[in-house]
Amino acid sequence: MTLPSWPYPRWVAHRGAGKLAPENTLAAFRLGASHGFRMFECDVKLSADGVPFLMHDATLERTTNGTGLGGDQPWGALAQLDAGSWHSRAYAGEPLPSFENIAHYCLRNGHALNIEIKPTPGVEEHTGRVVADHAARLWQGQAVPPLLTSFRPESLAGAQAAQPQLPRGLLLDTLWKGWLETALSLDCVALVCNHALWDTSTVTQAQAAGLRTLSYTVNDEWAAERLIALGTDGIITDRVDLFSPMA
Ligand code: G3P
Ligand code: CA
Repeated sequence: MTLPSWPYPRWVAHRGAGKLAPENTLAAFRLGASHGFRMFECDVKLSADGVPFLMHDATLERTTNGTGLGGDQPWGALAQLDAGSWHSRAYAGEPLPSFENIAHYCLRNGHALNIEIKPTPGVEEHTGRVVADHAARLWQGQAVPPLLTSFRPESLAGAQAAQPQLPRGLLLDTLWKGWLETALSLDCVALVCNHALWDTSTVTQAQAAGLRTLSYTVNDEWAAERLIALGTDGIITDRVDLFSPMA
């Protein structure tokens, strides 16, 4: 798939507002937006009854007051959890957001979204399908679709099967054997790499294949300057307080 032109801003706020607010919550998105960010990255997985919601880890302990696998609980139980107290008292009681809530927030405010499909282990392909179906429904008729990314090719394959028109990006933490061929076979529009993986050679390979080049998680000015000089397209950062997305 090729997008007519790249519709996304260069700067993307990681998990809403990096570490300044509880990750993957609406409060974080609001804080990132207050710093001028107009595109956000978030992690999406499925509840036991198939509702997409935002959380990074497979388990609830680090970022909520729940226990066990998030994917083992129905949305009705997950929606009662406190996803803010772990961060600071100011955010006590902040709920886990459903993907639908975050989608509405982004759409109403004209923000772009990078949805990282972060499946509970064992349901990779299914999660990709369900998240893509919800994204297609929620963004129907919108000029700028969400960018679906995943470290898991099975999840991208599920998204491709369900909603082939939605743009996809392969996340890479290492350049494992077959990375470029896999991205092309999944008809991706982008590679989203650990920023250290980008150099003249990898950028040239990606661009020659027609792929956009994005990086995570870039928290230092020297690293951002290097990536911009290399001609890459997007930077995902925790440091919503350091970088000016209007620059
Ligand atoms: O999507 C980029 C980045 O978020 C991937 O790493 O572990 O922060 O989800 P992680
Ligand atoms: Ca992520």
